Amino acid sequence: MIGKLPLDFMTLGMGTHKAFDALADTAENTDDPLVVLGELGDVMNRCTGCHSGYRFGIEGEDRED
Ligand code: HEC
Repeated sequence: MIGKLPLDFMTLGMGTHKAFDALADTAENTDDPLVVLGELGDVMNRCTGCHSGYRFGIEGEDRED
């Protein structure tokens, strides 16, 4: 299946693993919760980016983009 997936999808997915590792490092090394929250927000953009960009639609489905 990996061979069938678009490269951008794989890059986004693998990058998200790395982004969470970086978030864990930040959480360990700062006392400022807002810094951690801000970085978490950046990671969450990857979630919505992937979920809205790569989807199997159902024919005739009424979906809002
Ligand atoms: C590289 C693309 C990609 C990224 C980035 C991504 N997802 Fe997903 N996500 C998927 C795919 C593909 C599925 C599987 C969809 C399915 O099984 O129907 C999935 C499934 C899910 C599900 C289960 C949905 C269901 O109806 O069962 C949740 C919850 C979810 N993702 C949350 C997240 C969160 C939170 C993030 C960010 C931290 C994230 N995803 C990032 C691609 C991605």
